[in-house]
Formats: sequence, structure tokens, C-alpha cells
Amino acid sequence: METVRGSTSLVGLLGWPVSHSLSPNMHNAAFNQLGLDWAYVPFPVRPTDLSKALKGLIALNIVGVNVTIPHKQAVMRYMDEVSKSAQTVGAVNTVYIKEGKFIGHNTDITGFLSALIEADCQPKGLRVAVLGAGGAARAAVFALAWSEVDSVVILNRTAERAAFLIDDLIDVFPDSSLYFGPLTEPSVAALKDSFDLVINTTSVGMYPHVDDCPWPENIPMQANTVYCDLIYNPLETAFLSRAKAAGAKTIDGLGMLIHQGAVAFELWTGKTAPVKIMRHACLAGLPHKRRHKP
Ligand SMILES: NC(=O)c1ccc[n+]([C@@H]2O[C@H](COP(=O)([O-])OP(=O)(O)OC[C@H]3O[C@@H](n4cnc5c(N)ncnc54)[C@H](OP(=O)(O)O)[C@@H]3O)[C@@H](O)[C@H]2O)c1
Repeated sequence: METVRGSTSLVGLLGWPVSHSLSPNMHNAAFNQLGLDWAYVPFPVRPTDLSKALKGLIALNIVGVNVTIPHKQAVMRYMDEVSKSAQTVGAVNTVYIKEGKFIGHNTDITGFLSALIEADCQPKGLRVAVLGAGGAARAAVFALAWSEVDSVVILNRTAERAAFLIDDLIDVFPDSSLYFGPLTEPSVAALKDSFDLVINTTSVGMYPHVDDCPWPENIPMQANTVYCDLIYNPLETAFLSRAKAAGAKTIDGLGMLIHQGAVAFELWTGKTAPVKIMRHACLAGLPHKRRHKP
């Protein structure tokens, strides 16, 4: 789509802030590739303005929006319908507006699983550690439980938040092996050999704090464990760079970003998302591909 016209179908992003987002690059490249008269616009919306912004979307005939920090949970109360998975996870990241009604979805769940599978990491039967217990962790742990992993241990700086997440998981997966603890050196030291997959869902290591790492400095990483980071800016975090140095397989956060976007694209347009083009657009828009400048 070269020009925005009166006929252009609009989608966008509600968040605060939104200036760093790669979603406009990714979706607009996909619209161009398929020759669709569509455009994706980021909307910076303050937390106090969320309800006004949503009303405005209907008035402006917007087709749908992605929802990001800090609105993913707050937006739920304004939805007319919420998909079963979004309801279970307790967060909406994609809204489709149909005949003036808001339909809420959570594409982070499928996006996360597709990224693991694309990287040749089948979660079924794995012993998994999840570092962090925020919004991204919620999508990841529900996706893992649905995939019949062997066990999940959630380690978080604020251990109570991990406990709340475990409580919500147990309601849905009463027979699963679920544990929680603080994200501290002693707890990681006690468990370090017990995981097949370790996923960083914390924001530790995200630009500009690129030398920070959620894995304690004195605890070695294991060559036979897979390390996944949901952060995509930078693409290679300190966490992944340490895992690589230990000889382990690593998975960066770009796959999840692209696949959650692809599911949203398909919900809005009804067309198959051009995933390869979306990946190229994200890579081109990424300011910090490595932790250190080459
Ligand atoms: N690849 C993707 O598509 C994708 C999708 C969603 C999110 N993400 C990434 O995932 C990360 C988390 O996002 P979110 O939505 O889950 O954020 P969030 O809800 O704010 O949660 C942040 C998490 O990081 C932890 N944390 C923050 N600072 C910390 C520190 N200094 N030391 C230890 N733990 C710390 C928090 O622990 P406390 O509970 O103790 O505060 C919490 O567990 C971000 O980097 C985001 O970019 C990526």
C-alpha cells in the first residue's frame, strides 16, 4: 500500500509508549506484499485514555488493533467477546472490531508456540524453567501447559507474583507439575541441571540495559539445555550470548513477535500472512541486532 486513501482499511497498535514498535514495519510490509489497500498505524494511548481510544476506533471504522503494554489486561473489560484462550490467560493482545463489537484474542500464545516449533523445539515432555511472571510469562506458561510439557518451574524476582500465576495455572491444569520460587542465585543453583528448556520472559537485558542477564553470573549454563529469550531488542541478549558460549542451542524473541503478528494479520484480513516478508521487515527495522556493536 503506497498511499493511504479514503478506501484504505486501517488497523493499528494501542500502547504507551509505541514509538519503539516493529509492528507497523511488519504489517505494512505484509500489506504491500499482498497488494492490500490496508495500513497499520501506531496509536500512543495513555492508560487513563483507553476507554476513549476504544470508542474512537469504532467511530473511525478501524478494523482492529494490537494491544501492548500497559493495556493487555485492562482492555479485557471493554470486550464484547473474548476468545477462550485469551479469557484463560487473562490478557488480550489483538482486537477485531466486527459490526461495532470488540472481539478480543490472545495471539501471543500461538505466536510463542509457533516460534518454538519453527526453531525445532517441541515442548511436549520437556522440563521447563520460566524466568519472570509478567504478561509475557502468562502467555508462555499457558502455551507450555497446553503443549503437555513434563513440568514448569516459574522463578521470579517477586516470588508472590509467580505464586499467583501458578494458582491460575493449577485451576486450568490441576494435574500438572508446576512449581515456583524466587529468581535468586541459590534457587537457580539448586535447579540448574533439571531443565531441558529455560525461557527468559523478564525484561532484563532489553535495550538499553544490554549487558544485564537474568541468569546468575556464577551459575554455569548447560550445553544440553535450550535457552530461549522473548526479548528481541537486541536479538542476541547477554542471556543468549552466555548460552551460546556454553555450547547450548538458543532461540531469540523475533520468532514470537512475527508469529503473533501473523495470527493477528490473518484474523483481520482473512489472508495467509507472508511470514518471510514480515521477518525481513522486522530485521530491517531492528536497531540493535547484537548486544555489542560489531
Ligand atoms: N517476542 C515477543 O513477541 C514478546 C511478547 C511480549 C513480551 N516480550 C518481551 O518480554 C519482556 C517482558 O514483557 P512483559 O509484558 O511480561 O512485562 P511485565 O508484565 O512488565 O513483566 C516484567 C517481568 O520482568 C521482571 N523484571 C523486571 N525487571 C527485573 C529485574 N531488574 N530483575 C529481575 N526481574 C525483573 C518482572 O519481575 P517482577 O514481577 O518482580 O517485577 C516481571 O516478571 C519484555 O522484554 C518484552 O519486550 C516479547
